[in-house]
Amino acid sequence: MNYIWILLLFVYPATSDEVYQNSSHICDQCLCEDEDEFIIDCSRQQFEHVLANWPPHNKTLVATFSYNNISTLEKLPISTQKAKLVFDHCNIKYLDSGLFSNIRNVEYIDLSYNLLTTEEIGGDDFRGPYSDKRYRPIAVKYLNLAYNQIHSLPVKFFENMPDLEELNLQGNDFKVLDPTTQVALGSLTKIKVLNLADNELTEIEGSLLRNLPTLYSLDLSSNHLDFVPLTLSYISNNLKVLKISDNYIFKLTDQSFLGLDLIELHLNNLPRLNYVEANTFATLKHLKKLYLRDNENLNYIDKEAFGDNQIIDELDLSNNSLVNLDFNLINWSKLKILKINFNPLRCTCDLYNISQSLPKYITRKLDSPMCTDMENEDSTPVFFLKSTICSQDHPLHISNAIQHFNKIRIAMIVLSSLLLSGTIVTVILLLLRYRKTVAFRNYPFATQVSYYPIQTQHI
Ligand SMILES: *[C@@H]1O[C@H](CO)[C@@H](O)[C@H](O)[C@H]1NC(C)=O
Ligand SMILES: *[C@@H]1O[C@H](CO)[C@@H](O)[C@H](O)[C@H]1NC(C)=O
Ligand SMILES: *[C@@H]1O[C@H](CO)[C@@H](O)[C@H](O)[C@H]1NC(C)=O
Repeated sequence: MNYIWILLLFVYPATSDEVYQNSSHICDQCLCEDEDEFIIDCSRQQFEHVLANWPPHNKTLVATFSYNNISTLEKLPISTQKAKLVFDHCNIKYLDSGLFSNIRNVEYIDLSYNLLTTEEIGGDDFRGPYSDKRYRPIAVKYLNLAYNQIHSLPVKFFENMPDLEELNLQGNDFKVLDPTTQVALGSLTKIKVLNLADNELTEIEGSLLRNLPTLYSLDLSSNHLDFVPLTLSYISNNLKVLKISDNYIFKLTDQSFLGLDLIELHLNNLPRLNYVEANTFATLKHLKKLYLRDNENLNYIDKEAFGDNQIIDELDLSNNSLVNLDFNLINWSKLKILKINFNPLRCTCDLYNISQSLPKYITRKLDSPMCTDMENEDSTPVFFLKSTICSQDHPLHISNAIQHFNKIRIAMIVLSSLLLSGTIVTVILLLLRYRKTVAFRNYPFATQVSYYPIQTQHI
């Protein structure tokens, strides 16, 4: 008995010292501010453990521990207040189970830029306090797990986070959204914002999206998508913001956004995209903001890419390879923001008409985009083009030429496929015939019959 007491006395202070960061006079070491919220900032303190106690506070606690070295994130100290907790760049590898159970009113958790893996995260880590024979949920609305090493989510990962509205999984190791991940995400009944950018996704599972009817904003940028996933239409009702920049997408057609009702669309940095086909955006009746920039091979937007009555507020077409814009593309006079600089634009009557119909607060700006005069190769500000450009005789209507070119290209492809299949058929027929001939050679009478007609042709 005595022995155990001695052992306990010996061990207890040692472990408590080891497990928690001494927090008496913590505001001498960290920055504390007691204003609308109680703020404590312990960034870059070389902490290896969480605090033993929070400093006294009677309002929302905002605690930041960026850039420490906490390999295991232990159970956090007690607070009954709302809380925002930030533990980014802390080398966190392990999470203690129930780590937020003392601080169940935590609304905002940032665990980005750590070393968390699928194996180390589980439903237990995020469970709240135990009462009435069950674990209570925590109040978290925002969870940031960006830039960890997660490739799949456990089925019950969100079991104790029923109020989650915003989830950031950017920069993890997702190659597919596997069944357990789908079930986990599907349990989020209030999710509004989901960020899956910078993973290695090649497709988005349809059944996943069916289970996310509340989703408002989805970020799929920087993945390995070849197409705009058709399955997006499953969440058509609420999805308003879609970011799908920096993918391998090479086609934008009237099918790409069919069934969606987006307000904001990001299609930047799609190096394989050459042109935007007719009616691509026409079905997006409420589209207000379109970002279609930094697409190095985008040289043509069909003049019917948009719908007739669409009113776009913000249009960014900068840094593409566009040589012209059709005056009938959109209703230019309704734009609030337009960016078309860094394109190899040719000065055309279309551009003149566009600059005339744009609102003055756009064209008044001094940094007008430039176009190249086709007669003398001079660079001219688009917003200062003169009406004379429309009377100049332009042998080449660029957009038509490109449209034409695309038609020719398609024709060539069809023609060459026909030729190829023709050749294959011919070769097969010849081969069959040859085999027949060889077979017939064994019969002296048949040989003559099959040989003579061919020879007579040659004579
Ligand atoms: C915590 O640090 C204070 C000095 O800041 C010291 O007086 C106290 O003994 C320390 N507590 C523990 C448990 O080490
Ligand atoms: C972080 O802590 C681990 C032990 O938990 C240690 O090995 C490592 O050197 C520490 N890194 C820094 C930068 O202090
Ligand atoms: C233009 O886009 C390319 C990628 O296509 C990018 O590397 C470059 O920085 C962009 N330039 C400007 C001025 O934004």
